[in-house]
Amino acid sequence: MLRLENLHTYYGLSHILFDVSMEVNAGEIVCLLGRNGAGKSTTIRSIIGLTPPKSGVVEYKGTDITREKTHLRVRRGIAYVPDDRRVFADLTVDENLQISARETQNGNHWDAERVYRFFPALREIKTRRSGHLSGGEQQMLTIGRALMTNPDLLLLDEPTEGLAPLVVKLLAEQIAKLRDTGLTVLLAEQNQEVSLQLSNRVYIIDNGSIKYTGSVDDLRANEAIRRKFLCI
Ligand SMILES: Nc1ncnc2c1ncn2[C@@H]1O[C@H](COP(=O)(O)OP(=O)(O)OP(=O)(O)O)[C@@H](O)[C@H]1O
Ligand SMILES: [Mg+2]
Repeated sequence: MLRLENLHTYYGLSHILFDVSMEVNAGEIVCLLGRNGAGKSTTIRSIIGLTPPKSGVVEYKGTDITREKTHLRVRRGIAYVPDDRRVFADLTVDENLQISARETQNGNHWDAERVYRFFPALREIKTRRSGHLSGGEQQMLTIGRALMTNPDLLLLDEPTEGLAPLVVKLLAEQIAKLRDTGLTVLLAEQNQEVSLQLSNRVYIIDNGSIKYTGSVDDLRANEAIRRKFLCI
């Protein structure tokens, strides 16, 4: 579904991503795992077009989208949940969901009711102004908003960062269920536990390069790699 080929991405003159290649197949949850500053967010921004690569190819469903504008990528069915959990603070939870609604023909039909069934905690607070939500509630809302666009591919940038362990557990369980709805997920994470629990396959990024790729079971068995590139 998604193929990255030899991406080199810069912020101004700073060369951040070096020759990043990855693949995400339909129906998978793939994790991009790495420490602080490794290049996870930059990879996701390259995919959605907020920081396009200087060279290399981003291919989505067989089409080269490397130079396409972000809103057109979203229209193709890619949804992006950034790491900052930004919501429209003055709007209610329900309004935040409604303004993200999008008609599509891909057979994935998300409306606010389905989001509330998926995240029952959001239904309880649907009339609350979004500026007053906890971190976990905000994260559910940003994921809910992404689902309202009826995506085929969901890009999640560190959804569990900074949340309490119980909230992390609940959120991880829900993300796992998204795969059962037919959604494909690329998850950027620092949290190994979450990544090993949720993903089918893992890429480890460090210093802007992919250092390892394998199944979750392979990574679990490979303590040397985990010690070298991750915080354990
Ligand atoms: N806007 C920017 N301008 C210049 N350098 C940046 C910018 N954003 C990030 N960087 C640098 O790019 C590198 C990769 O950052 P990136 O945000 O992709 O890492 P990350 O893996 O997402 O880290 P984190 O876990 O902290 O979110 C870091 O060295 C960072 O300092
Ligand atoms: Mg990041």
